[in-house]
Amino acid sequence: MTWNFRTFKRMGIPGPTPIPIMGNFITLEKMGIRKADMMWIEKYGRIYGTFDGRQPNLLVADQELLKELFVKKFHFFPDRQVINGVNGDMEEAILNLKGEHWKNVRSLMTPTFTSGKLKKMFPLINKAGNALMEEMSQRIKSDSQLDMKRYFGGFTMDVIASTAFGIDVSSNKNPDDPFVKNAAELVNISLSSPIILMMRLTFKEILGNCMIFFFAGYETTASSLSLMTYEVARRPEIQERLYQEVEDVLGDEEPDFDNIGKLTYLDLCVNEALRMYPPVLRLDRVCVEDAELGSYKVPRGTFVSVPVYAIHHDPSLWENPEEFIPERFLPENKKGHAQFQFIPFGSGPRNCIGMRLGLLEIKMAFVHVIRKFKFSHSEKTKIPDNIDSSGLMSPKEMWLNVQHR
Ligand code: HEM
Repeated sequence: MTWNFRTFKRMGIPGPTPIPIMGNFITLEKMGIRKADMMWIEKYGRIYGTFDGRQPNLLVADQELLKELFVKKFHFFPDRQVINGVNGDMEEAILNLKGEHWKNVRSLMTPTFTSGKLKKMFPLINKAGNALMEEMSQRIKSDSQLDMKRYFGGFTMDVIASTAFGIDVSSNKNPDDPFVKNAAELVNISLSSPIILMMRLTFKEILGNCMIFFFAGYETTASSLSLMTYEVARRPEIQERLYQEVEDVLGDEEPDFDNIGKLTYLDLCVNEALRMYPPVLRLDRVCVEDAELGSYKVPRGTFVSVPVYAIHHDPSLWENPEEFIPERFLPENKKGHAQFQFIPFGSGPRNCIGMRLGLLEIKMAFVHVIRKFKFSHSEKTKIPDNIDSSGLMSPKEMWLNVQHR
């Protein structure tokens, strides 16, 4: 089918007027994805059409329509939008796979993330948490201001390297950026790594999927940790409560698979950080067969996106959405939430396969740092703004003042 700028008019869907060649890119570039989506929802409602260059992109934020998109009509919208030109090993990566091939690889990978398998990864994550804490201790002897994005990045890198690749890289000992320093080494996968042993994939699939563990798991987890610590650093009362909870529940014990689940206030804070700062700002799908979403006819080939950030900050769903209020996630308050108003890991059969591992990593790292250190903002701390140009909420740095307790 030939797309043109009348596509959405024909579908009866409102949206900003595109300009030739650029579509609506200029607004996205100028305002950033977060603000642009919030503005468009306010102006056009919870379904609107935009153009990424010449490519129409249908944005869906309506709760009923999301249910159809993610769950009820998943078979019409099973694929992700693959960036042209991505090839080689990444082609085999689960993030980009389509149709039956995706289904097969996903079902082979799913058992990797059961409780039993996560328990086996636990000692490796704990080791990375201890290394993080020790490296920070060393560093603050000479300088109390630390770039926590770099330290959490190192922690995440250690976890991925040891669980997915079977290698020990001790990223935080590295004076340079751990991503750049160690990425090359990660290609030399050890076939005896815990995750590889759990899956039965072709070598090409192994390579593609290990790389995606790296791409999908590194920036998301390190950014969530940095942004949560940023929020906690400016709220001493929340920070103290988190510390007290770790003291009361764990005492001097090492965190383990069972006791970490008892840290209920930590769980609320992690959720609230993922609401305020969802690392993936928009989810995306492709319509593979002519379909209907509500009363709208969606032609095959349409790109569909879900503005996660704008949904997480929608004042009709969240009271004071710009405030960090962990109690929103207390069971009694969660009861009132709509099904798709909190979707940091996406939803439906194509949601984040690493969700439980990601949450575990965030909690483990946080337990290790909060029991040893106090965080506050310093003159180098920047408000996390202007961090969304790539579609990921990823601050390049997160300078905080760190003191021993
Ligand atoms: C805080 C941490 C993380 C966040 C917020 C996050 C978020 C997401 C989101 C939003 C998606 C797209 C879901 C959708 O389209 O419905 C996704 C997909 C995915 N994530 Fe994560 N992720 C995190 C950590 C991880 C980790 C640690 C791993 C791997 C070990 C991982 C592996 C994947 C994979 C493989 C997919 C593609 C799944 C598929 O297409 O079937 N993620 N993630």
